[in-house]
Amino acid sequence: MNQSKRIAIVAALEDEIAQILSNMTITESKLLAGRKFWLAVHHDREVVVVLSGIGKVAAAITTVCLIENFEVSQIVYTGVAGAVSEALNVGDIVVGTRFIQHDMDASPLFPRFVVPGYPTHYFEAEPQLAMNLKEASEKALMGLANVVRFDGLFKLRSAQVHSGTVLSGDQFISSSSVRDRLRREHPGALAVEMEGAAVAQVCKDYGTQFGMVRTVSDSAEEQAEKDFSLFLSSVASQYSALIIKEYLKLC
Ligand code: ADE
Repeated sequence: MNQSKRIAIVAALEDEIAQILSNMTITESKLLAGRKFWLAVHHDREVVVVLSGIGKVAAAITTVCLIENFEVSQIVYTGVAGAVSEALNVGDIVVGTRFIQHDMDASPLFPRFVVPGYPTHYFEAEPQLAMNLKEASEKALMGLANVVRFDGLFKLRSAQVHSGTVLSGDQFISSSSVRDRLRREHPGALAVEMEGAAVAQVCKDYGTQFGMVRTVSDSAEEQAEKDFSLFLSSVASQYSALIIKEYLKLC
């Protein structure tokens, strides 16, 4: 991978990367399109860190700003996601390999979920980046046992790392019937969130490497709002800090 340019680390909300922000050595910050971009050295790598805000448009704007202004070699998106697959539990980690905009529907002009102008209904992560994020996540999980007391809060069994398809849309999913519809429409999809496939689309257009790693904060059903808020305030940023630390050692 390109060693000379910066790695962008992006999350939707401050709670998702608060620990990364407080641990890194900030050298400069720039304001663009209402977003603060922090330039920093983090675990010996040059990084630019930014909060995208929530949703596909906010994430796409942020991605364009990063690529046009900060000479980034790759963009790593992190944060939390809701589980779609039954195989996932709160506290598991999801590395995205494919990203689908589950709310895109220009049918009958174009097949459902295809963004008009693109050949398929999914965008892909850069494969080596995704593999490194998986390895980093597995290493981070070992460290998390000592750092995060999540069992009491969420009654978890031991967490696992999964990689596969992630769905993105401008909707917080907090209904088992909607979640089940997503399962039926996208068999095998692991998780749902609100930004990844938009960032992946912009990165595809610019030829910028993209990867995403998220921790499962909720199961996208009626309990989702409560679980999401608790996970966000208590656990999320420790997960992303450990994963990103391990990731920066690998790339
Ligand atoms: N991010 C975290 N949980 C989510 C959910 N249930 N729906 C959409 N985005 C999410």
